[in-house]
Amino acid sequence: MPTSTLLTVSNVTKRFGGLVALNDVSFEVKEKEIVGIIGPNGAGKTTLFNVITGFYHPDSGRVIFDGVDITKFRPDQICALGLTRTFQLVKPFKDLTVFENVLIGAMLKKSKAAAVEKAEKVLKDLNLQRLRDVQVKNIPVAERKIVEAARALATEPKMLLLDEVAAGLNPAESMKVLETLRKVRDQGVTLCLVEHVMRFIMGISERILVLDRGVKIAEGLPSEIASNESVIQAYLGVKYA
Ligand SMILES: Nc1ncnc2c1ncn2[C@@H]1O[C@H](COP(=O)(O)OP(=O)(O)O)[C@@H](O)[C@H]1O
Ligand SMILES: [Mg+2]
Repeated sequence: MPTSTLLTVSNVTKRFGGLVALNDVSFEVKEKEIVGIIGPNGAGKTTLFNVITGFYHPDSGRVIFDGVDITKFRPDQICALGLTRTFQLVKPFKDLTVFENVLIGAMLKKSKAAAVEKAEKVLKDLNLQRLRDVQVKNIPVAERKIVEAARALATEPKMLLLDEVAAGLNPAESMKVLETLRKVRDQGVTLCLVEHVMRFIMGISERILVLDRGVKIAEGLPSEIASNESVIQAYLGVKYA
């Protein structure tokens, strides 16, 4: 069965004054794929997510999602097409409960009753039921990221971009998130993840892109990336075992 391309980033350049945060970056993501993006701090990973989801517009290049040129779209228009993201620095509504946060996501596309049902289901899928009625300001930052992922998933995206969702989690917690994300993909959601925890990204990604100073320096299977000389020099430092 042929798999079709869901996201195409072609020749994207983004400058901040004299700094080239993204330099002629191109790649594709296929439907139901899990793609990881790694690179040192300041490599341009978050900027790439910001450009894809309309928070910044590129200086040149194009972003095509599901056959639509979204290069100049606003974040809400892009979200309505089924492409959404989480933030590296979490931005939940802190005074609202976990359930209410997820409900806000669900209500984007659904009536109240259907949204309640959807929110409950997402909480269950992500094992967040025990935190259902807790105000988000009262849960640890690491778990707020999972709440963000839940809120994003409640919008029923075709594709979800996750920015350092496992940061701050202990190994057992990140294993749980990893399992959950596999389930999410199996339900049909295409995933693109930025992550610093090597074991996490190598364990879940089917393909990995490496950014360094705004340039895509490598792309391949996790095993290829782990033994790629320029990646090791730029980032891994020592060979990832
Ligand atoms: N809004 C902005 N204004 C100016 N510079 C920015 C802005 N956002 C990011 N940058 C710069 O762009 C580069 C890439 O940043 P970022 O995409 O956050 O990297 P990463 O997520 O890979 O750590 C960095 O040098 C950062 O300082
Ligand atoms: Mg970042």
